[in-house]
Amino acid sequence: MKGVILAGGLGSRLMPLTKITNKHLLPVFDRPMIYYPIQTLVDAGIREIMLVTGGNSAGDFLRLLENGAAFGLNRIHYAYQMGEGGIADALRLAEPFAAGDPICVILGDNILEKGIGKPVAAFAKQKRGAKILLKEVPDPQRFGVATLKGKTVVEIEEKPKKPKSNFAVTGIYCYDNKVFSYIKTLKPSGRGELEITDVNNLYIRAGTMTYDILDGWWTDAGTFESLLRANELVAGSRKVRTAGKAR
Ligand code: G1P
Repeated sequence: MKGVILAGGLGSRLMPLTKITNKHLLPVFDRPMIYYPIQTLVDAGIREIMLVTGGNSAGDFLRLLENGAAFGLNRIHYAYQMGEGGIADALRLAEPFAAGDPICVILGDNILEKGIGKPVAAFAKQKRGAKILLKEVPDPQRFGVATLKGKTVVEIEEKPKKPKSNFAVTGIYCYDNKVFSYIKTLKPSGRGELEITDVNNLYIRAGTMTYDILDGWWTDAGTFESLLRANELVAGSRKVRTAGKAR
């Protein structure tokens, strides 16, 4: 399985923090935000990773991450997203990198307490289709929201005013190679972007979408509130770990 990290966008909800840099280069506790999703993929055993970014600060990722030695990698693949076409538009650029293989996609501002090794291994056995990771949240209207019927996802709504459940679709998605042909059929949404939720709904309609519930805390970091929360959660878990070691 290959890994794709999506780290483009304008970060407009974090202005002026993002006026002169990319959101994913901002600090979360003691390291740049982009370190967390890379580590999440590496910890899940994924060593072939592509980072998709764009905008004026794209070169800073190369200077920061170099060839990935900080994560035990020999190289990182990079792709440059022209414009701000959304998550699915950014993912489109990973088609030659995927070269027919299944991929695990993670949004560059998604930070997790625990690993994704288990769901990634489960998806590897699934052979085809897609898998999304869900998390129960108190504020589902901020996210893609999944409606579940037993073991099946029947629908995902992007930022619904009246969410039908508390299950947020996290920014971690496993896809087979069909994802790229699905993306080619998408039309821009109301916010002018190719939505990852539309991709996921195509898999749901095809009957090939599975889901798992994510273990441990999860947050994104694209707003002032969630960025602060990300800092607090990471700092908190680091303290717990350090205290554990001291004992
Ligand atoms: C995106 C997705 C949304 C998902 C969220 C997770 O939202 O569109 O479905 O729940 O990431 O972080 P965005 O942060 O682009 O508004």
